[in-house]
Amino acid sequence: MVIILVGGQWGDEGKGKVIDYLAARADMVIRSQGGNNAGHTVITEDGEFKFQLMPSGILYPKCTCIIGNGVVVDPIVLLKEITQLQERGIDPKNLVISERAHMVMRYHPLFDQLEEDVRGDDRLGTTWRGIGPAYADKIRRIGFRIGDLQKEAFMRKKLAFVVDQVKNPILTKLYERESYDWETMLAEYMGYAKQLDPYIKDTFPLIQDALDSNKNILLEGAQATMLDLDFGTYPYVTSSNPTAGGALTGSGIPPTRVDLTIGVFKAYTSRVGYGPFPSELTNEVGDQIRERGHEFGTVTGRARRIGWFDAAVARYSCRLNGVGSAALMRLDILDDQPHLKVCTGYNFRGSTYDHPIANISHYKHCEPVYEEFPGWQTDIGAARCWEDLPSACRDYIERIGELIGAPIELIGTGPRRDQFVTRGRTLFA
Ligand code: GDP
Ligand code: IMO
Ligand code: MG
Repeated sequence: MVIILVGGQWGDEGKGKVIDYLAARADMVIRSQGGNNAGHTVITEDGEFKFQLMPSGILYPKCTCIIGNGVVVDPIVLLKEITQLQERGIDPKNLVISERAHMVMRYHPLFDQLEEDVRGDDRLGTTWRGIGPAYADKIRRIGFRIGDLQKEAFMRKKLAFVVDQVKNPILTKLYERESYDWETMLAEYMGYAKQLDPYIKDTFPLIQDALDSNKNILLEGAQATMLDLDFGTYPYVTSSNPTAGGALTGSGIPPTRVDLTIGVFKAYTSRVGYGPFPSELTNEVGDQIRERGHEFGTVTGRARRIGWFDAAVARYSCRLNGVGSAALMRLDILDDQPHLKVCTGYNFRGSTYDHPIANISHYKHCEPVYEEFPGWQTDIGAARCWEDLPSACRDYIERIGELIGAPIELIGTGPRRDQFVTRGRTLFA
């Protein structure tokens, strides 16, 4: 069985927890896009793990964890993650990195920052991890692939060209910064090559064999639909396609082999960085939810913007990704709210819309249309089955399911592994 998991809003929906839940029964977990802009939290009996590049299935030794061709890998960050796991007694022998995955090079985070600085008030609020510049170089065909680490002569020639002919002239002339010495960089990357060598493979045969033997494969999404380069709130997006199509090109899995797409949603909405957010709460209710939910970025520590659940966004995600099963996470964070609202669509200049519109100068002025719900004002942290949930909470979930057009089969009632209510089928049974 092949399952694609996608983030349904603007990221940080609780994907890490759902991936960990599914990975217990998966044979293979594949990251297919993004890089260390992602921050996925998994909490087990051994404490909290925050994964940036490492697939969130890594805690299951029998699960092969692949960093797919569509990911941009910063070797410095990945090596740090490997060491951190080893220090906690976990040897990630089950990790495989596609030789086709591109690298975030030493200069990419710097360019990310410099480009943000020149945008001034129009800055995007990127994570400064060099993700956009690395994907731009991939598309310009001046990127370095992980497999290049195994070809020193090739690296030497290409680094000399890219650093001296492309990067240094911009750095020194445009930004008045110091230039890079490509020979020093070559020595540095050859060091990474040695350490990463055991993990680098051609993932094509591995993935095809797993498909041929009908293994359980999970395509682990990072970022989210509204951050998608094509379908998100461009330009306030990331530089990859976190929607279902990106999972396929980023891994090499044919569309005909996909059995199910799971959409992961938060019971309200959050967003880090700039860009339109119609259901945003800039009042004390938003502050309360942020405080109760510790809504501060996993990667950058920035305060996340908070808003009501936007069913127009969620339905758009379900339709774009073909979501057949939805997870609604962090419902417990709403436990103490006396009233809740759900955005069902937007009004803009006399017209109504039931989905986000492409023109962001219009989208940012869309007025949300709300449906109101009574809160349940009960601690749901101990709920383990549908009947354990208060009826106001069940009504909220049922109505969201109707509005988004997908069954809600996983419900998050707390951060721990066991804090789940499941409904319907057992996935990867
Ligand atoms: P991701 O990027 O989608 O994997 O999400 P993050 O890990 O960035 O943020 C989600 C946060 O919510 C993490 O701190 C998780 O431990 C936590 N979390 C996940 N599910 C639940 C839930 O149902 N309830 C609560 N309270 N926390 C949750
Ligand atoms: P996970 O996988 C939330 C946001 C950044 C910024 C925009 C572009 O943890 O859900 P980038 O550095 O990618 O060029 O930044 O995208 N962003 C995320 N927001 N969760 C993420 O990942 C994100 N990855 C990128 O905040 O607004
Ligand atoms: Mg996150």
